[in-house]
Amino acid sequence: MLLTENAPPSLPAPDPAFRRDIIEGLSREPKATPPIWFYDQRGSELFEAITDLPEYYPTRTETALLERHGRDFAAAIGPGRAVVEFGAGSARKTPHLLRAIDPAAYVPVDISGDFLHASSAQLASAFPGLPVLPLVGDFNTDLALPTAIDGLPRLGFFPGSTIGNMEPHAAVNLLRAMRRLLGEGAMLLIGMDRIKDRGRLVAAYDDAAGVTAAFNLNLIRRINRELDGDLPLDGFVHRAVWNDDKARIEMHLEAVRPLHFHVAGQCFRMTEGETIHTESSHKYGPRDERLLLRAGDWEPVREWSDEEGLFSLVLAEA
Ligand code: AVI
Repeated sequence: MLLTENAPPSLPAPDPAFRRDIIEGLSREPKATPPIWFYDQRGSELFEAITDLPEYYPTRTETALLERHGRDFAAAIGPGRAVVEFGAGSARKTPHLLRAIDPAAYVPVDISGDFLHASSAQLASAFPGLPVLPLVGDFNTDLALPTAIDGLPRLGFFPGSTIGNMEPHAAVNLLRAMRRLLGEGAMLLIGMDRIKDRGRLVAAYDDAAGVTAAFNLNLIRRINRELDGDLPLDGFVHRAVWNDDKARIEMHLEAVRPLHFHVAGQCFRMTEGETIHTESSHKYGPRDERLLLRAGDWEPVREWSDEEGLFSLVLAEA
């Protein structure tokens, strides 16, 4: 049962926020751009391809946890909650949770209306009796949940270790915003990627087939197309490095020669070896996960991890 409250927004072209973030990011020292801009149509397709790569363990490990621990989720969470998913539901992961806990409603929240409505329609047809209420919006800003779930206890669902793409202070702010949005008595089920050996981490972000490299380099194509840029595609290479001090994988676009290019009428230069830092993916140890959740006003109550300890799903209470 698909109940649509918001019409998909019509994005102006070029997106002024994209322009602002890229100009600001390229003007900064060192250069850094927010990872949200990876996800145009091609970027989203490449990310889907990444999730199937042999080296990229997070998606398959988290999916297996969701599949395997349904009974535990049912016991710890119980039926009758409104599940608020931060991000459009994935046909691979969300059904396992919904099947296990018998919720009263499902509210996926995503900034991309088209993507959200397509995945909501798919989930609604798989769960015919479940009210599905997609909400278009940015869950980093204040949102209002659909009135149809007023009075229902909530479960926030934030899979994929997307929290890892945020700087720790931003992650804490987001967890607090989720806590405010979901209210008293809420629970949160969140996926977090664990710290592990460097080789495994770097391979997951620099795969042999070059899909992650294409994902990273696609940002240059997007800048050129949408912001009237002239960045040379052959002027950059993909780099994935483990920053041990900050416990994160960093993705960079490294200039292979001195570069001079334009974006939206502005001129930029890069020296050989200089990089644009395009993404950080923070990894957490078991104690770090709990500390982060507590800093974000959530109390961890259960945790599920695979045998190798690659990835964990943490259940927390408001
Ligand atoms: C979306 N996010 C959790 C992915 C990650 O693992 O940080 C994005 C990604 N970047 C490169 N590969 C995957």
